[in-house]
Amino acid sequence: MKKRLDQLLSSLGYGSRRELKSIIHSGAVTIKGQRVSKPDTKVEHAEVHFRGEPLDPPEGMVIMMNKPLGMVCSHDDTEGELVYALLSERYRQRSPKLSTVGRLDKETSGLLLITDDGKLIHALTSPKKRVFKRYEVSLAEPMNGEEAELFASGTLMLKGEKSPCLPARLSVYDEQHAALEITEGRYHQVRRMFAATHNRVTALHRSRMGGLELGELKPGEYRLLSAEEISLCSEEFSS
Ligand code: URA
Repeated sequence: MKKRLDQLLSSLGYGSRRELKSIIHSGAVTIKGQRVSKPDTKVEHAEVHFRGEPLDPPEGMVIMMNKPLGMVCSHDDTEGELVYALLSERYRQRSPKLSTVGRLDKETSGLLLITDDGKLIHALTSPKKRVFKRYEVSLAEPMNGEEAELFASGTLMLKGEKSPCLPARLSVYDEQHAALEITEGRYHQVRRMFAATHNRVTALHRSRMGGLELGELKPGEYRLLSAEEISLCSEEFSS
């Protein structure tokens, strides 16, 4: 779909419409290799280059980040240092805004998706869709051996909740380390599930969402996902 050049560039975070007017006049923008001077020229995203580079992806982009410990998944910086601060200035200036797909706690690390696609956020966070997330868990105490059955049963009631947790899968590595796969995203869910067994989570890291693995990204690093990878994230629990 064709858009006004200045509108397209400002929605992608390249500057305000006013700033872009002079940037475009300076000859920094080309369309199919030709310099353009009119900000209201109608263009296709793919034909535009900015200072010789193709544009950032159009609306519908999805970023995978390895969320570091200590940062918050919020747009409100009174809650602490925001994960968005790790993104490039241009990504931070985009409209529609980039938002996290659900949240990880401040003290949880690992796979975090960030997108401007509201429908995708809904599709991946809706409890009706049983998209599973895998968490690597370290515990303060040895497990009692009954956790896997309890978590799988679909009967575990968390304090203050009206319905039990949906069945979850526990893979035990050793007495104090395990991976837990859940399909919901209740507040502090993994920590509260272990609290219900009189244990305490000392470290929590999300390693996977559906068929998408975090892979080699270091804490604080991020990268764009391909269309194929985006479809992997919505893989549901097989029972
Ligand atoms: N469960 C938690 O307790 N915390 C998270 O960040 C994610 C799942």
